[in-house]
Amino acid sequence: MSTKLIAPSILAADFGNLQRDVEMVNQSEADWFHIDIMDGVFVPNISYGMPVLQAITKHAEKTIDVHLMIVDPDRYIKEFANLGADNLTVHYEACTHLHRTLQAIKAEGMQAGVAINPHTSVDLLKDVINDIDIVCIMSVNPGFGGQSFIENTYQKVQRLKELIVTHNASTLIEIDGGVTNENATQLIKAGADVLVAGSYVFKAKDQKETIKDLKKLANS
Ligand code: DX5
Ligand code: ZN
Repeated sequence: MSTKLIAPSILAADFGNLQRDVEMVNQSEADWFHIDIMDGVFVPNISYGMPVLQAITKHAEKTIDVHLMIVDPDRYIKEFANLGADNLTVHYEACTHLHRTLQAIKAEGMQAGVAINPHTSVDLLKDVINDIDIVCIMSVNPGFGGQSFIENTYQKVQRLKELIVTHNASTLIEIDGGVTNENATQLIKAGADVLVAGSYVFKAKDQKETIKDLKKLANS
């Protein structure tokens, strides 16, 4: 079985001490930096944009996993590639021509991800599953950190895992929202590969230890 990955979500970091928090992730057992870009249109919140991403990538020494919660993401694919994104995830609900968008992301040398909202069925990805490197299942409604995990997520992960196996695809399953030590084991059992964790990591007393424990839990 391949190693399960941990992706701390920078949305929950202390922006007054951004470099310190990026260094903490560098020194931890985390695998990816998860970076949420929100436009105030696709989701009811605005997070941060290009200059902040640039400040992060300047110090980050791990995979940069960018999660776009924006309308018409095609406009910015090239720009995010130039800014150092390794993975670029767009929302299913924000793409009219998802297949084309995925090809455009790959053409820029990035891994192509698709995020789905809690109300979106994984079955809608059937016809493009072999074109997707990462499916990000939202386990909260996107827009804010610190929300409670939606229990129906386990079933979605299981269903998606079946779909991936049936199509002989190598797609990774990423879970985003409300991830803690209490749901990690069941998520992994259901078929998850990557756990995003914002508040759970950054609100912890010992952040590095919390990442270490989550990683251990995910791989045991
Ligand atoms: C929510 C974001 C998440 C968020 C997760 O819209 O996509 O990445 O930062 O934060 P927690 O782990 O606090 O739910
Ligand atoms: Zn996210």
